[in-house]
Amino acid sequence: MTDATGAPLVVGIGGSTGAASTTNLLLRRGLEAAEALGARTASFTGAQLAVLPIFAADGDAPTPTALEMVAAVRAADAVIIATPGYHGGMSGLVKNAVDHLELLRDDERPYLDGRAVGVIVAAAGWQSCGTTLVSVRSAVHALRGWPTPFGVTVNSAEQHPDADGRFDERVTGALGILAAQLMQFAGWRAAARAAGR
Ligand SMILES: Cc1cc2nc3c(=O)[nH]c(=O)nc-3n(C[C@H](O)[C@H](O)[C@H](O)COP(=O)(O)O)c2cc1C
Repeated sequence: MTDATGAPLVVGIGGSTGAASTTNLLLRRGLEAAEALGARTASFTGAQLAVLPIFAADGDAPTPTALEMVAAVRAADAVIIATPGYHGGMSGLVKNAVDHLELLRDDERPYLDGRAVGVIVAAAGWQSCGTTLVSVRSAVHALRGWPTPFGVTVNSAEQHPDADGRFDERVTGALGILAAQLMQFAGWRAAARAAGR
């Protein structure tokens, strides 16, 4: 939640285990865009998500990484979910992380309630960019979150970062819009909370 300084917390979840993962990098750039607008950030990317066990409602006690991720989302004002498009939808790695948000079921703000969620997709074709964006937004709706109006899709077969890991102005601009919408919603929620709503 917004801290004493008034800085909202934006938590990023996503990426892949690929050595040069486009989605890991896009998530990082998206969080940097939020930081530039005054956010505090935390992230859980491919390598961390890969140590999560497959979520089972009646499974073992959550692992330390799972607890850390869930605690971060519990405290978050906004969330970014970044995924590669796998066969037209989000990857199993990212879906399993999203499934872990079931641990927020009994919270005062259950699941993603009251949080704006920005979605970033990288896929090797435009069709999967679109279908994956819709599939992630559907999961966010199921979790009571508020998908931002603007989503970021990157065709990784056509749009590449430079040697410094920077994307062109089209992608950078899109990430900036996404970050601005997350911050705008977080500001609205903070004002409403302050007014007792
Ligand atoms: C198992 C698998 C399934 C994929 N399915 C699709 C697909 O249906 N459509 C598509 O455009 N790209 C597909 N891709 C390509 C990835 O979406 C693309 O390479 C993406 O940029 C990978 O992200 P990453 O670099 O973060 O790992 C697939 C890749 C894998 C490994």
